[in-house]
Amino acid sequence: MKNNEDIFKKVISHSKEYGFVFQSSEIYDGLSAIYDYGPNGIELKLNLKKYWWDSMVRENENIVGLDSAILMHPKIWKASGHVDAFNDPLIDNKDSKKRYRADTLIENHIEKLISKKNKEITKASKKFGERFSEQKFISTNTRIIEYITKIDLIKEKFNSCLKSENLEGLKNLILDLKIVCPISGTSNWTDVRQFNLMFGTNFGSTNDIESKIWLRPETAQGIFVNFLNVQKSSRLKIPFGIAQIGKAFRNEIIARQFIFRMREFEQMEMQFFVQPGKEITWFNKWKENRINWHYKLGIEKEKLRFHDHEKLAHYANAACDIEYDFPFGYKEIEGIHSRTNFDLESHSRLSGKKIKYFDSKLSKSYTPFVIETSIGLDRMFLLIMCNSIKEESLKDGEKRIYLKFPFNLSPVKLAILPLTKKNDLPIIARKIYDDLKTRYHCVIEEKDSIGKRYRRQDAIGTPFCITIDNESPHDNKVTIRNRDDMTQDRIYINSINNYINDKLIY
Ligand code: GAP
Repeated sequence: MKNNEDIFKKVISHSKEYGFVFQSSEIYDGLSAIYDYGPNGIELKLNLKKYWWDSMVRENENIVGLDSAILMHPKIWKASGHVDAFNDPLIDNKDSKKRYRADTLIENHIEKLISKKNKEITKASKKFGERFSEQKFISTNTRIIEYITKIDLIKEKFNSCLKSENLEGLKNLILDLKIVCPISGTSNWTDVRQFNLMFGTNFGSTNDIESKIWLRPETAQGIFVNFLNVQKSSRLKIPFGIAQIGKAFRNEIIARQFIFRMREFEQMEMQFFVQPGKEITWFNKWKENRINWHYKLGIEKEKLRFHDHEKLAHYANAACDIEYDFPFGYKEIEGIHSRTNFDLESHSRLSGKKIKYFDSKLSKSYTPFVIETSIGLDRMFLLIMCNSIKEESLKDGEKRIYLKFPFNLSPVKLAILPLTKKNDLPIIARKIYDDLKTRYHCVIEEKDSIGKRYRRQDAIGTPFCITIDNESPHDNKVTIRNRDDMTQDRIYINSINNYINDKLIY
């Protein structure tokens, strides 16, 4: 795979070929930005959910789980601000008839300038070698100073337009920066309009305005409206968290990049309730906790970064994203937000119900402040696919493509391969399968040459293959092959479980 574009294309085709992700409704030509997960995809997804759930609910005695409904009272979305403010500014190119998010066009333009500036710095550092001082270069080189000034100026205008919802200003900025449509190459733009991202549907048998409800665009609100139910039934004391995994729906204007931006997707969200005034300390703790969760999966540190928000959402007093270096650039995978007491206060106001916590240590009641961690399950899935796909040339000139998943995330942990169908080898295979199937996801493969079977297991990221050969009925041993370095060990059949267990760390 030569470049990032190749890698991404390979991830998409590989996902389909090996039963990870399919276009939804494919036989009807598909439904844009909706995907189905195949037999290996659902295993990977379940393993990701388990890794997240365990890290929240099992490893923290003060975090509990919840599974709230997708359909909720429509007033919830009024209180949360989604009815009035869950909008994207969109703009159309009149020549190509393509629609874009105005803010994304500007952000991409800024990213391009930053990358040009960084290239100049790298070029200079190579040219001057050890004598190079990056700080001095940045503060004295006229081209770099020009880039920085330009970037700052655009950011300032951009943020001010976003803050004041100045749609005309956004259009003018697009025109001033000479941003063109990548399809038509022209700047023949319409005005910028706001577009609400929620999917609506009707409740019950009537079709009138009164019966209109929404598919939830985030799982978080299910947690807020259940705050008292959960706190009281579980007798929780602040600080404590409520975690939830579930579907969310957004009518995204631009849904592309495979499963990166979908219209139906899953979120893994946790709301952590704290004493007012303590929220920034907890925000920083959760930032560190969450980045370590990603590092623990073996993701290279330089591929992850924090992006602190300059423009804060209406409910937040601090916010940052964790971004991953996807083949199409650094993009958000997770948000960590200090949501103040906005949601609980707002639900209390609109419902007329008191939502307070009595703090027995302080002998007073208050509305807790909230730190939210929110990660897209499908986006994390894409991250793992992009980060794991490897291609290497073998000694015999052949190529092998393998998925170097963290072992615990692999859809199949163990492939059991009887070398032939003779000498009772399939019977031994079946016995091993029956012994281990409740501990790990195992498969038996009998068809094709052993080489072909290894390649197939490599392609779905199976960390261990065992081969049962003609010696096995005599010495009670099998050959176990490791996916990543293809090394092989000869081990006793009754030690397979320990061998695998020792290596099933992340
Ligand atoms: N409750 C907060 C919230 O929903 P968000 O930043 O809009 O915040 C959180 O979404 C995470 O959900 C994102 O970091 C991303 O991983 C995932 N996500 C959001 N929109 C998505 C989409 N259209 N497709 C796939 N994942 C999405």
